[in-house]
Amino acid sequence: MPRLTAPELLRMKSAGEKIAMVTAYDVTMARLMDRAGADMVLVGDSLGMVVQGEGDTLRVTLDEMAYHGRCVARGLERAHLTVDMPFMSYQVSPAQALQNAGRLVQEGRAQAVKLEGGVRTAPAIRACVEAGIPVVGHVGLTPQSVHAMGGFKVQGRDDAAAARIREDALAVQDAGAFCIVLEMIPAALAAELTALLQIPTIGIGAGPQCDGQVLVCNDLLGLDERFKPRFVKRFAELAGVVEGAGRAYVGEVKGGTFPASDHTFDPGGKLYGGG
Ligand code: KIV
Repeated sequence: MPRLTAPELLRMKSAGEKIAMVTAYDVTMARLMDRAGADMVLVGDSLGMVVQGEGDTLRVTLDEMAYHGRCVARGLERAHLTVDMPFMSYQVSPAQALQNAGRLVQEGRAQAVKLEGGVRTAPAIRACVEAGIPVVGHVGLTPQSVHAMGGFKVQGRDDAAAARIREDALAVQDAGAFCIVLEMIPAALAAELTALLQIPTIGIGAGPQCDGQVLVCNDLLGLDERFKPRFVKRFAELAGVVEGAGRAYVGEVKGGTFPASDHTFDPGGKLYGGG
């Protein structure tokens, strides 16, 4: 099955078809989410928090994004692959952005790259788009600016802040991005931007009226019972399932009941028990 492309995702907005995006960081999760029908898989720099155990995304490197991009690409048959550009890989200049976006395409097998920021990031977005690299924008809460924003907080609550986000979203579209993530903004503002923009909006903590939604895979699977922000819905509670399976394994190893004959080779190389 051919992989979805940026123009096809753009067309989904005009057709009124919702876009389901989810993060993945390895081939197993990528394969499962692809089979589940996700339209877009994002190798987010959230990997700094979800995979590496950091408190923010700021220490993730371009090499790490390229590595995880390659891992995820091997699991995808239909879903489109976007890879995040990490902190300080595009802020210095449009030339730096283009060079690093090119590495994520070549080494990370990205079909698109995602950059945070609006007006200030527009020249970098334009440089990538003009070189033929599709770009996903990201405005509202932009986690790479966590220190400037004073934490992971809802953005655009008052009129002035909402106007800045509107200006940022328009700048991202004008620079040539084909899609934009709206993170943690009031639902009414997200609905207004969705109507205003020609490119699809993908919300996270931005209400139901966006053209699509994105969640971090670990969050939707309930893999960390300590993390439950308001915008996350857990579609499974896998933390308990995984821990339970681990306990059962440990118990059987310690009790001597695993491996049983079914899991054991005889001297001729065949499995005991008929395998
Ligand atoms: O890094 C990430 O996973 C993201 C999504 C939450 C949009 O940017």
